[in-house]
Amino acid sequence: SPLHDFLQGLPKCEHHVHLEGCLTPHLIFQLADRNGIALPDPAANPEYASVEALTARYDRFTSLDDFLHFYFEGMAVLRKQNDFADLAWSYFQQAHADGVHHAEVFFDPQVHESRGVPYETIVAGFSEGCRRAERELGLTTRLILCFVRHLPVSSGKAIYEQFISHGHFEAGVIHGLGWSSTEVGPPKDMFRELYASAAQKKIPLTAHAGEEGDPSYIHAALELGARRIDHGIRLVEDPELMQRVARDGVLLTVCPLSNVRLRCVPSVEQVPVRRFLEAGVKFSINSDDPAYFGGYILDNYCAVQEAFQLSVLEWRIIAEDSVQESWIEDSRKAELL
Ligand code: HPA
Ligand code: ZN
Repeated sequence: SPLHDFLQGLPKCEHHVHLEGCLTPHLIFQLADRNGIALPDPAANPEYASVEALTARYDRFTSLDDFLHFYFEGMAVLRKQNDFADLAWSYFQQAHADGVHHAEVFFDPQVHESRGVPYETIVAGFSEGCRRAERELGLTTRLILCFVRHLPVSSGKAIYEQFISHGHFEAGVIHGLGWSSTEVGPPKDMFRELYASAAQKKIPLTAHAGEEGDPSYIHAALELGARRIDHGIRLVEDPELMQRVARDGVLLTVCPLSNVRLRCVPSVEQVPVRRFLEAGVKFSINSDDPAYFGGYILDNYCAVQEAFQLSVLEWRIIAEDSVQESWIEDSRKAELL
C-alpha cells in the first residue's frame, strides 16, 4: 500500500500474538525431526505430507475450532527449553523487522503440561527468548499466561497455582493473565474464581471474547475483571456495551487477518475498524497467530490500510492508543510516543 513505509516506520506495539501461533510449518517439521516426535501419519492426514501441503491447509480453515485443531497438534513438537526459546526468538526477530518496539505475547502452558512438559521448562524457554529480544533488539516484552477454555478449569487452576508459588508475577517473569481457545460452548464465566484471585493481587487481566461469540461473552469477561478484550469485534452488535467500553477506555486487540482466515468476517472491510474509530473505542492491530494466518503485524496494518484508507492522523491515534494501553511503565511509554 502507498503508506507501507509510513506504517513500517510507525512505532508499533503488539498486544495479541500467541507464541505457539508463530510456529511455522517449516519449524514444525524441523522440531519434529530434532525431537524425534512423530507427526500425524500423512497416509491418513495428507496435510502432513510436506511443509507445502500443511501451509496449503491453512488457507482453508473453516472456523476457530478447525484452526485450533492444527494449532494444538503443531505445538506438540515443543519439548525442551530451547524449543520454546527458539520459537520466541523467531517471533521477536520478525516483529522487530516489522517495526514493533514493544510486544505482549501469550502462551498456553496447560496444553504443554498436558503433554508432559513441566511448567518451569515452558516459562524458562519463553522468558529466555524475551530477554534475548530485550538485549539484542531493544524491544520491551511482556509474557501473558493464557488459560484455555477447552480443558477443565482444574487444569487451569493447577497452572495458576504453579504461577503463584513461583512468584512469577512479583518477579516480573509473567506480567498478566488471559484466556483463549474455543469460545462458544464452555461456560462464559469458567475462570471466575481464578480471575477473582488474580484481580485481588492486582495482576493485569485480559480475555479472548467476541471473536466467534456474541457480545454477552465480552460482557462476561469484563464482569470477571478483564481490563482488555482480545478480538472483541462483535462488540458492534451491542451499542450500549460499546458505549461503556469506549467510556471505560477498554482496549480491544483486533486481529484482522485472523478474523478473515477463521471466517469471523468475509473480508477485512467487515472488521469494524471505522465504527470503532467513530465510537471512540480504543483498539490495537495485531497478528494473533502469524504462522497460521498468512501475515505478521505489518501485514495486518497494511491490510487495514488497503481496506479503509485511513489518514495519517487516524494511524497516529491507533499507534498512540497502542502505546498508552500497553502494560508498561510511563517512562517506557514516553520513549515510544
Ligand atoms: N482465539 C482463541 N484462541 C486462540 C486464538 C484465537 O484467535 N489463537 C490462539 N488461540
Ligand atoms: Zn488470539
